[in-house]
Amino acid sequence: MQGIPAELPEVKPYDPDINHAPKRKDILTQEEKVLALKNALRYFPERHHAVLAREFAEELHKYGRIYMYRFRPSYEMYARPIDEYPAKSRQAAAIMAMIQNNLDPRVAQHPHELIIYGGNGAIFQNWAQYRLVMQYLATMTDEQTLVMYSGHPLGLFPSHKDAPRVIVTNGMVIPNYSKPDDWERFNALGVSQYGQMTAGSYMYIGPQGIVHGTTITVMNAARKQLRKRGLSGDDRGGVLFVTAGLGGMSGAQPKAGNIAGVVSVTAEINPKAAEKRHAQGWVDELHYDLNELIPRIRKAIAAKEVVSLAYVGNVVDLWERLADEDIHVDLGSDQTSLHNPWAGGYYPVGYSLEESKKMMAEEPERFKEAVQASLRRHVAAINRLAAKGMYFFDYGNAFLLESSRAGADILLPDGRFRYPSYVQDIMGPMYFDYGFGPFRWVCMSEKPEDLAKSDALAIKVLGEIAATAPEEIAGQMRDNIHWIEEAGRNHLVVGSQARILYADCEGRTKIALAFNEAIRKGEITAPIVLGRDHHDVSGTDSPFRETSNIYDGSQFTADMAVQNVIGDGFRGATWVSIHNGGGVGWGEVINGGFGMVIDGSQDSDRHIREMLFWDVNNGIARRSWARNEAARFAIEREMARTPELKVTLPHLADEELIKSVLK
Ligand SMILES: NC(=O)c1ccc[n+]([C@@H]2O[C@H](COP(=O)([O-])OP(=O)(O)OC[C@H]3O[C@@H](n4cnc5c(N)ncnc54)[C@H](O)[C@@H]3O)[C@@H](O)[C@H]2O)c1
Repeated sequence: MQGIPAELPEVKPYDPDINHAPKRKDILTQEEKVLALKNALRYFPERHHAVLAREFAEELHKYGRIYMYRFRPSYEMYARPIDEYPAKSRQAAAIMAMIQNNLDPRVAQHPHELIIYGGNGAIFQNWAQYRLVMQYLATMTDEQTLVMYSGHPLGLFPSHKDAPRVIVTNGMVIPNYSKPDDWERFNALGVSQYGQMTAGSYMYIGPQGIVHGTTITVMNAARKQLRKRGLSGDDRGGVLFVTAGLGGMSGAQPKAGNIAGVVSVTAEINPKAAEKRHAQGWVDELHYDLNELIPRIRKAIAAKEVVSLAYVGNVVDLWERLADEDIHVDLGSDQTSLHNPWAGGYYPVGYSLEESKKMMAEEPERFKEAVQASLRRHVAAINRLAAKGMYFFDYGNAFLLESSRAGADILLPDGRFRYPSYVQDIMGPMYFDYGFGPFRWVCMSEKPEDLAKSDALAIKVLGEIAATAPEEIAGQMRDNIHWIEEAGRNHLVVGSQARILYADCEGRTKIALAFNEAIRKGEITAPIVLGRDHHDVSGTDSPFRETSNIYDGSQFTADMAVQNVIGDGFRGATWVSIHNGGGVGWGEVINGGFGMVIDGSQDSDRHIREMLFWDVNNGIARRSWARNEAARFAIEREMARTPELKVTLPHLADEELIKSVLK
């Protein structure tokens, strides 16, 4: 309720035990620095300017950004049960809980810099914005809408109860000003931020959010490999999966490896990140020495152990050693933050973490060269193993793109990448085209019992749907039921009582309606927030990731993501967000998401039916128009169920005919 305090709070000491964001590039001219300070001081009364101007100038100099550390609240940061929030609007109270959950140090990557994941995925740019937003949310009614510009609360505007309570835009810039350095400059000026996907829309639920998708990917990649060898796809013992990153989302990889039943080895250069995931039980063993790790890998494969090993060091050293040792790697990938290669997303081989951080801030050009040289070595080692049968896939982190820009040997003679993205091979044709995506929910009571009840309801609903599901989606349904049955046992919750479950439109809608009824009857004791990752059927236009299996040339357009958010906004979302950048980098993707508070009311029933239908089916319709067969199947099935839905379907032209007329 306090907002910006009238008197200055005590200066906060810099906590060395926290994982801090790297120092950002010193990109502003002297004149622009004046502007950045003026911009920061806008949040405070003039009488504090003399003190704050000096302090903010120092932050800008030391960290490349003005975080306003002094204003970080002293209370503990975590999501409270909804009833503990002072609020006139229950919907706004739920949003406060989601914001605090995102900033919870167990959940956020660099909590003091308001970075939730992915190295630069910000929820707010500074602590003044956080304080103002919490105050607005605590005082607003259901007839107001809070407008958010890249973390900055523009203000509360009168609206109506069916309108979203919050509208978020992150990083929306004029397209010609969407290069990585533009982000550095606008962010340092305090006028824009990189919201990643769920970071800037308060919908991040820790690594669980990504475990499910990663499990699906690893499991299906392993099945493909095993079937190629004439083996059963379900006997995955002894399959070796090698990758990198134990950060925000990448930290899900070892857990997914265990759930998929394989041996996984994940390299992580930052000991703090590796130790955090180990302490949380997300990775089984940490190894600091390759001489000790290599025999451990051989032993695990031979014994068909289900185990996750981490190498605390540079992934390039790991790849080169695996290639030298001639260890057979079945599956390979990478989840370093290559969407952000020059500012701490990828650490070059041959330098310690500290050396890299120093070089990045002081000699950015030299750092860039080191990253590119490292990528060339990285790809060379992967190519050696791929030549011996490893299946390598891009995990949506711009690995292929940045490697090609670095001049690595990653292109085929016809200019395509040597390796597929996980969306091209697995997630797109098997999941997104049918409408399956990362649906999620968060129990606002914060009680594990409510989450357990919601899991049980989801299992029941999915079982009913699976009984009559067509063959095309029977496998997906089976995997999803297995996931949700195991979810409780796998202790996936970090932070709020949340669950992710890949589901299609029918699944999402029926599950949500069942929750709403349980809330109405008091069986679930508080409202639930529904949402999803932006990495979904309809939410994201990203030519090298979510829409990489769109082949009609429209993968570089962003109509779908924009339409999606607009449509959600007037069909009952409690908040919506649209972002430039997310996953693969600033300027490379437009993506959006929503949150919906359901409270047992009839209004919630209506919002569920109207909004979830649109939220999934608009993307299927677009995928069908792009001639994707699975999407065509799914949208025709939906039209048969829903007479009001009328979608334009493509006629298929004969390519030989076309070639003959173009001769
Ligand atoms: N498509 C998806 O579903 C999906 C899922 C997860 C992540 N991603 C992408 O993967 C990337 C990682 O996401 P994140 O949230 O984990 O980011 P993150 O920055 O939290 O984690 C990346 C980790 O990689 C480590 N790292 C960097 N260079 C390394 C190197 N050379 N050797 C070993 N470790 C190194 C970093 O220390 C960091 O901990 C992002 O680009 C993200 O967009 C995509």
